[in-house]
Amino acid sequence: MSRLDSFIRRLEAQRACLNRAAELVRGIDGVVLELGLGNGRTYDHLRQLFPQREIYVCERQVAAHPECIPPADRLLLGDMFDTLPAARNRLGGKVALAHFDAGTGDATANLKLAAGLRPLIAPLLRPGGILATQQAMEGPDLIPLPLPEGVAEGRYHLYQRT
Ligand SMILES: C[S@@+](CC[C@H](N)C(=O)[O-])C[C@H]1O[C@@H](n2cnc3c(N)ncnc32)[C@H](O)[C@@H]1O
Repeated sequence: MSRLDSFIRRLEAQRACLNRAAELVRGIDGVVLELGLGNGRTYDHLRQLFPQREIYVCERQVAAHPECIPPADRLLLGDMFDTLPAARNRLGGKVALAHFDAGTGDATANLKLAAGLRPLIAPLLRPGGILATQQAMEGPDLIPLPLPEGVAEGRYHLYQRT
């Protein structure tokens, strides 16, 4: 598979998982948390999926498309290792859907980042809340869910908070 094919499949898997996640949280109150704004593509998709919900965004340094910059009061600006613990009072147990997309092309660094942030992300989710992530993050409090049809095992991950 070419790198172009792989890139396209990753984005298709990401979109399919976000769309599935939106169905899964339909009956669950709570906010949405985007972990990694980047260009703002998935933030924009989340805005379309969740027009009625507050969407909070974590990002170290905003460099998104001008139309995809979150309002200042919903932006957790800085390193997530600092901003997530600081947001625990505000967001702890209130997140219906978290989307983790903070990785780079470095698979080893991605695994380390995901392992480090997992214990900071899971407590923010409501019971029954969903985590969509490119990196595996299962644990006793995060149960893997089946992926949408057409998404290869391991390409993206969906978890439900116990
Ligand atoms: C792959 S991009 C996100 C792409 C985005 N979801 C999109 O669709 O456009 C990853 C982003 O995560 C951010 N990031 C990575 N590690 C971070 C950390 N520890 N704290 C805050 N932001 C981080 C990077 O600055 C980068 O903008």
